[in-house]
Amino acid sequence: MRSSSLIEAIGETPLVELPSFSPKPGVRIFAKLEGNNPTGSVKDRIARAMVQAALDDGSLDASRTILEPTSGNTGISLAMITSRLGYRFTAVMPDNVSPERSELLRAYGAEIISSPGEEGSNGSIAMAKQIVAKDPSYLMLFQYGNAANPGAHYATTGPEIIRDLPEITHFVAGLGTGGTLMGTGRALKEYNPKIEIIAAVPEPDDRIQGLRSLEEGFVPPILDLSMLDARSMVSGEESFRGTAELLRREGVFAGVSSGAVLAAALRLAGRVDNANIVCLFADGGWKYLSTGLWTRTYDDLKESVEGKIWW
Ligand SMILES: Cc1ncc(COP(=O)(O)O)c(C=O)c1O
Repeated sequence: MRSSSLIEAIGETPLVELPSFSPKPGVRIFAKLEGNNPTGSVKDRIARAMVQAALDDGSLDASRTILEPTSGNTGISLAMITSRLGYRFTAVMPDNVSPERSELLRAYGAEIISSPGEEGSNGSIAMAKQIVAKDPSYLMLFQYGNAANPGAHYATTGPEIIRDLPEITHFVAGLGTGGTLMGTGRALKEYNPKIEIIAAVPEPDDRIQGLRSLEEGFVPPILDLSMLDARSMVSGEESFRGTAELLRREGVFAGVSSGAVLAAALRLAGRVDNANIVCLFADGGWKYLSTGLWTRTYDDLKESVEGKIWW
């Protein structure tokens, strides 16, 4: 497909069947590969929509610097888009995210403010709010509360899936801000109210990059739990193993939250007889290469990254 710029090339990602994971003939599993977006994650969609909304309502002009709390993907997308459009960008990020993330942000010219790693993304959110309260030249788009986040999925991700698989019965995605599940979910339910929307969430004590457990105390304002038909709890170990299996069995090189989504989808696949399940894989594996997850054992890896939020 031809695009007039990299920003226009966002979206229209492949929907690929994963036949080796199908447990019975009537149950088919498909993956929407969001790692195929220009900066390698689903967040390109929402970053484009949030920046456009800020330009449209006049809140973004040359005097402002965009500042966003992010564990990486949204920051990288915002860094690419702001660099193209000529705006400044600062990311507030836990200091223990994988090094690929900070490298890529710096490559796009973004500034990074580090928040304490042990406080996770909630620590970044609190710090970003403090900074913006003190300095009004910063503009926080705040993906957790910005209607353009689910709006981007309602306008693009949902319609792409309906076009590519009109017979979809279930949609499984990770829950971070909730934007993917809310926006895609709304588009799918409007198309066919019987389609079930399933959130993959980490077990309360497990960290899976990009996903959040609502038990940690912060519920994103854009999240409407009534949109979800189920929440499927996945451990760090299942995510890790799922991510490694995806590459081994299907050649799909995806990030760690995709292993969590796959685990949730397989659980669902085991208890239905007929289904067309779409999994959304939020990013590619590149940003997790330094974990060694594709070449090392789980136990070995667990020890070396203890306390970090690499998966
Ligand atoms: C790797 C990864 N997976 C999944 C998600 C969850 O997506 P959403 O924020 O739309 O709920 C995110 C976003 O934070 C992410 O970075």
